[in-house]
Amino acid sequence: MSTFGTLFRVTTYGESHCASVGCIIDGVPPGLKLTAADIQVQLSRRRPGQSDLTTPRNEKDLVLIQSGIERDYTLGTPIGLLVKNEDQRPHDYTETDLYPRPSHADYTYLTKYGIKASSGGGRSSARETIGRVAAGAIADMYLKQIHGIEIVAFVSSVGKISVPSTTISSTEEDEDHVDDVLNPEYIELLSTVTREKVDEDVTRCPHAGTREAMRARIIRAKEASDSIGGTVTCVIRGLPAGLGEPVFDKFHAKLAHAMLSIPATKAFEIGSGFSGTQVPGSRHNDPFVLKENGGLTTSTNWSGGVQGGITNGEDVYFKVGFKSPATISRPQETAQYDGTPGTLAARGRHDPCVVPRAVPIVESMAALVVMDQLMIQNARRATAAPLPPITSLPPTMVLPPGNK
Ligand SMILES: Cc1cc2nc3c(=O)[nH]c(=O)nc-3n(C[C@H](O)[C@H](O)[C@H](O)COP(=O)(O)O)c2cc1C
Repeated sequence: MSTFGTLFRVTTYGESHCASVGCIIDGVPPGLKLTAADIQVQLSRRRPGQSDLTTPRNEKDLVLIQSGIERDYTLGTPIGLLVKNEDQRPHDYTETDLYPRPSHADYTYLTKYGIKASSGGGRSSARETIGRVAAGAIADMYLKQIHGIEIVAFVSSVGKISVPSTTISSTEEDEDHVDDVLNPEYIELLSTVTREKVDEDVTRCPHAGTREAMRARIIRAKEASDSIGGTVTCVIRGLPAGLGEPVFDKFHAKLAHAMLSIPATKAFEIGSGFSGTQVPGSRHNDPFVLKENGGLTTSTNWSGGVQGGITNGEDVYFKVGFKSPATISRPQETAQYDGTPGTLAARGRHDPCVVPRAVPIVESMAALVVMDQLMIQNARRATAAPLPPITSLPPTMVLPPGNK
């Protein structure tokens, strides 16, 4: 359906060419200082027409607060946010009255509902993600201000051009030889990257050695009336241990759900991901070490900050794969709705590559997951807090009082 989250609950509405898109958010804590400008920052990073690498559809995407906020403070009641669709051009899509676009959602929406929006992608359009980004911006702000949690996403590949991320290599003598599970440069990037650094370049790739090649690759796709895919990596720093609900709502399962609900996503990897499958356990395990101020940390973090579906206090990092956008103006042999073979060369305005614009969407969906999981864990803790401390059980079974 169109709702995501349990305690921090977001419902999005709107199609690509209707009057407006937006969301209702339930569960925002009362008393949070919040203005439209706070929400606008992420919406402006998502909006179309930002550079020659994105669709030229010209939308300002200015957010209008409808409810739940008075005199710049949240009331604790549902927050309604609205963004007008201003630059609709439904006539751009007349070919798609005849043709379901290959690998777009026209055919499946029509098959499912028996009726579909007359133009554009309707509800499957990336316009829908405006509601997610607006809601995510609120969660993101609360998480940063109150808990110091930082969420930063960046473009990690375009087509075959990738920031250096894997380094596994085997030798003939030792098939288990591993230089490193992931590239040290990539690990360094995960611990230092900021949104400001990401936004220094229109590709939203913070790695100086690769971004120019990425930019050129997108331009080549655009000039060939074609499109190209890529990946977005995201890191969440400063997360407390203990988030995630075994067994079906594991933290990384929630993240995967959130990410794979973004249009055009095809893949999700947490921590070492697929690279980790090539490495023996003796190199892949994250050994425990004593933290400076007591308690345990790990000396490596190939787990990506999640073990048993629960955050362990290390950085959570993951990668999301986005396909090459389906709508291309290069002619394609396909079939009309009635089965007549034909050639479709889509008109309209399209993204040659979605990853630069997907960055704030990934951050926002991550913020929604963290906020929801944090509220669930806080509710559990608050419920357990009045219980008397358990002193009769060994420390392998129960944390000492004060450590809970
Ligand atoms: C930021 C963003 C921009 C997008 N822009 C386009 C676009 O211009 N053209 C297109 O065909 N698909 C675009 N998409 C992807 C489609 O919405 C998506 O492929 C389509 O709904 C089919 O869904 P699926 O790819 O998840 O199966 C975009 C996705 C995102 C996240």
